Amino acid sequence: MADKENQQYNLFNIINDRRSIRKFLDKDIPDDVIEKILKAGFRAPFAYQITSVVYTLDKDKMKKLKRMGLYPSTNLFMVFFFDFNRMEKIIRARNYEYDFDDSLLLWIGVQDVSLVAENVILAADALGLGSVLLGGAPLMVEQIAEVFDVPAKVFPVVGLCLGYPDPEHKMDIRPRFPLKHTAFEDKYKELSEDDLKDCMHSMDDGYITQGYYIKQNAKIPLAKGDDNIDMSKYSWCEHISRKISQGMWSDKSLIQLLKDQGFKLD
Ligand SMILES: Cc1cc2nc3c(=O)[nH]c(=O)nc-3n(C[C@H](O)[C@H](O)[C@H](O)COP(=O)(O)O)c2cc1C
Repeated sequence: MADKENQQYNLFNIINDRRSIRKFLDKDIPDDVIEKILKAGFRAPFAYQITSVVYTLDKDKMKKLKRMGLYPSTNLFMVFFFDFNRMEKIIRARNYEYDFDDSLLLWIGVQDVSLVAENVILAADALGLGSVLLGGAPLMVEQIAEVFDVPAKVFPVVGLCLGYPDPEHKMDIRPRFPLKHTAFEDKYKELSEDDLKDCMHSMDDGYITQGYYIKQNAKIPLAKGDDNIDMSKYSWCEHISRKISQGMWSDKSLIQLLKDQGFKLD
């Protein structure tokens, strides 16, 4: 019982203390550590086991990806893929044909892959590694496919930079919306104006107090008009609103990229 309590304490500590790390020490990560966190990753629940991970310690590959626009500034970089290539081979080996719209499978794939990624993040944390996800990976499919020899029907869901955190660059624990506005018992709750203000304040006050965007030097320029918000007032809600309202940064739509990678989406 004492052991179980201890494990619970450790698990909740790891979850509650985790924060994204964006500056890493130039320190090698032993192979057995990598294997351990990957094994923990694949212990995640799965619907179809449709996840593959490609990881690299190769600085040249990382430089290539960086030049192409993905910025893995780390010693270990992973990409989590939705892998229908392997699944199709299994289906064929069992003498079945598959010729349907791939959209449902893709959705299941994102579910499966995300769970593996989160397990990897927490397992890495438990072994003293920090990490940050790179959400731009799907839009970089062509470049990622080139660097990692990725075949058709395999699609990057998310990238992950891993390494030993640089203690000179301590990261704060980021706020979240209050639980009462994100988790509802029995029935979805439409937020009132006051609830919404509460949500926005909890994020904005938290980020401004921590000086997050000042430290990151991260401000999204306005597409048009004068920018009257100085960095001391530039907040999370402002940032996310600018990000989403200005659209994603890719010449091709995600649907087109998926079709180009061999998925049937009609
Ligand atoms: C799907 C996903 C994609 C992300 N992509 C990026 C990214 O491209 N660059 C980055 O610096 N952080 C990225 N993040 C990290 C988030 O910015 C971070 O998780 C969030 O600000 C909360 O901070 P925390 O992880 O420290 O709690 C991503 C997170 C998720 C879940």
